[in-house]
Amino acid sequence: MSTYPAVAVCAPLPVLGRDVEVPLVGGEKVTYAALDYAASAPALQRVWDDVAAYAPYYGSVHRGAGYLSQLSTDLFEQSRATVAEFLDLRDGDQVVFTRATTDSLNLLASVLPAGTRVFAFETEHHASLLPWRRDDLTVGYLRAPRSPEQAVAALEEALAGSGDGPKLVCVTGASNVTGEIWPVRELAAAAHRHGARIVLDAAQLAPHHPVSVRDLDVDWVAFSGHKLYAPFGAGVLAGRGDWLDAAEPYLAGGGASRTVARELDGSVAVEWQQGPARHEAGSPNVIGAYAVASACRALTEAGFDRLVDREQYLIERLRAGLAGIPQVRVLTLFGEEHPRVGVLSFVVRDWNSSHFSAALSAEYGIGVRDGLFCAHPLVRTLLGGETAAPSECGAPEASLPGERSLNAIRVSFGAGTPDEHVDRFVAAVRELVSDGAQWAYRTEGGRCVPDTRRR
Ligand SMILES: Cc1ncc(COP(=O)(O)O)c(C=O)c1O
Repeated sequence: MSTYPAVAVCAPLPVLGRDVEVPLVGGEKVTYAALDYAASAPALQRVWDDVAAYAPYYGSVHRGAGYLSQLSTDLFEQSRATVAEFLDLRDGDQVVFTRATTDSLNLLASVLPAGTRVFAFETEHHASLLPWRRDDLTVGYLRAPRSPEQAVAALEEALAGSGDGPKLVCVTGASNVTGEIWPVRELAAAAHRHGARIVLDAAQLAPHHPVSVRDLDVDWVAFSGHKLYAPFGAGVLAGRGDWLDAAEPYLAGGGASRTVARELDGSVAVEWQQGPARHEAGSPNVIGAYAVASACRALTEAGFDRLVDREQYLIERLRAGLAGIPQVRVLTLFGEEHPRVGVLSFVVRDWNSSHFSAALSAEYGIGVRDGLFCAHPLVRTLLGGETAAPSECGAPEASLPGERSLNAIRVSFGAGTPDEHVDRFVAAVRELVSDGAQWAYRTEGGRCVPDTRRR
């Protein structure tokens, strides 16, 4: 039983998999506690139902002459409008459907005018850190700030000496490692003061917080459907259309081209589309886009502010629980009290993080994540400069029980998480720390897995 005061919050939203049972290493079964939302969140039941209701009516989009083609085309375009409303876009802003945030940011990188100077904090997820490495762009990486004020000051300083010409700042709304919320509005104001544009990586913010492009005054925003309870392969890049319309299409092909004509000299002349279609060549992912729109509607209709309150309540419960376990060190850039979304990373004294996460799964049926979370520079900074060899996303550096931890454990949750999952997690951490794992573990294929014998 929780000892924390209950606050008036809504129930979790129904998600798929909430009753799924998984086997423990000892043979018994427990309901799975999905606490890896930051990687991929379960589908909202509502999204699943909407997709199932539409599926029989699925048809080819755009130029199909049949009834279902027209219906599907309407649905695809309505989905765009729903996303625009969800993000509170300005008149004239575009919504481009992509595969996910990584794709969205690579698309934006591909349309930047030659010579653009890009600024990003080294604390970013690799999806925000790496797409700018084009030969005709320059990238300035800013050191990890230790407060929101330092972040704004560092950006001001970098931009002040950056001269004229196109500039872009890329910033995350909420860290996928610490969950900490970044001062996006202030960074946007700083960017604009110096003639730069700014793109918001909202992969971790949008599922947890309303995002108003108008209010934050960012130029673009990117997010992923699969982190927003709509795992059907679609993501979004939304914002200003001028650079998008001026650039070559991200993908060349049907849909992006308005007319294609064979010239007398044997060459082929193309007139590209303007607007979102320019960067959506090929047959679009109608179901994915519809699922994203369905999730946007579901969060809005559930009362996003109430979901935020509920998540904050779970975060407090988690923080209070972990604070009572002195061996746990929570990773933070801006201080433990800084506002965060339902994402928290930590290390446990004398434990290897992969071993700890494996035990949470095998002995308690709790799914978290261990690794460097595709934010290697940030996690290394937070771990205090320990040097670890580069690894695959999420792969452990060393996974023998008792070895020093070179990576971290991340717990993350959201709109579908019941209180019980957080409580079970805290209780499991406490028990593992005090009693140790009950089973032996070994490394197999780079992962820590339980052996078939008790310790
Ligand atoms: C902050 C952040 N940005 C970008 C991404 C990339 O998202 P995706 O893998 O959906 O493209 C992630 C994924 O974890 C993320 O957490």
